[in-house]
Amino acid sequence: MERIQRVRVWSAGLRLAHWLIALPVLVLLATGWLIGVAPSLAAAASDVHGVAGFALTLGLALRLYLLLAGSGAAHWRALVPAPGDLGKAGMMLRFYLSLGRTPLPRWYSHNPLWVPLYALILLILVAQSATGLLMEHRPLLAGFYLPAVHAFLAPVILAFSALHIVAVVLHDARGTSSDVSAMINGHRIFVIEKPQTPAQAGIQSIPIERIGKR
Ligand code: HEM
Ligand code: HEM
Repeated sequence: MERIQRVRVWSAGLRLAHWLIALPVLVLLATGWLIGVAPSLAAAASDVHGVAGFALTLGLALRLYLLLAGSGAAHWRALVPAPGDLGKAGMMLRFYLSLGRTPLPRWYSHNPLWVPLYALILLILVAQSATGLLMEHRPLLAGFYLPAVHAFLAPVILAFSALHIVAVVLHDARGTSSDVSAMINGHRIFVIEKPQTPAQAGIQSIPIERIGKR
């Protein structure tokens, strides 16, 4: 017998920060590319780049605040890989290599394979915002030519975004926890297998709040 339970794993603040980061990043990738390749559109693209850059900076500021002051999935501790999650990360790799044919492991909020990449991309985005804000007034900083750093990080952010979007769509399509809508409404779905009779020998149960928690 199966039972499903909706559990709120993403707080409103974290979801707001996610979308205030994700949507501007997509606009910044497109407008940054236009600035470089389409001189006739560069002025308009640069204006939009500036507005989206401001929105991204707000989103990052909120995310950084939550890393320190938030709780649960929003706190920085949730972005530190746990050695116990290594097996689940391996299962995730098998899932991708088989194009979604092997089973997904169970996890609570952040995907165990992506945890270190989330921390890294937040750091990269902070560097990208800082170079974007500074480079026009101060192109050289500590020996780094900031426009070159900004142009170098853009394809790295593009690669992360593309892989991340394909991955979360694959998790949603092949898994049972409705991951994409969870980043909108906050709730992931957990399928709980219930024993036929409560007293079935040898089967342990854990409360839903503990699923996937370390
Ligand atoms: C995901 C984040 C971002 C990406 C992928 C990105 C990408 C790019 C790219 C590809 C260029 C053109 C480089 C060239 O062809 O030489 C560019 C230029 C520029 N970016 Fe960004 N950028 C991002 C965030 C920001 C932010 C947050 C700001 C500032 C708030 C910013 C400000 C600028 C400025 C001032 C330029 C110079 C060109 C101009 O707008 O006139 N960028 N960016
Ligand atoms: C528009 C398409 C996008 C969708 C549908 C989406 C969806 C999601 C989902 C479902 C998660 C949770 C995944 C998990 O189980 O670990 C997540 C997490 C995350 N996403 Fe996205 N995402 C999108 C775009 C982006 C972009 C463009 C970025 C930045 C480059 C981004 C950065 C992040 C980060 C940093 C996390 C970890 C959550 C945190 O702790 O801040 N996302 N996203």
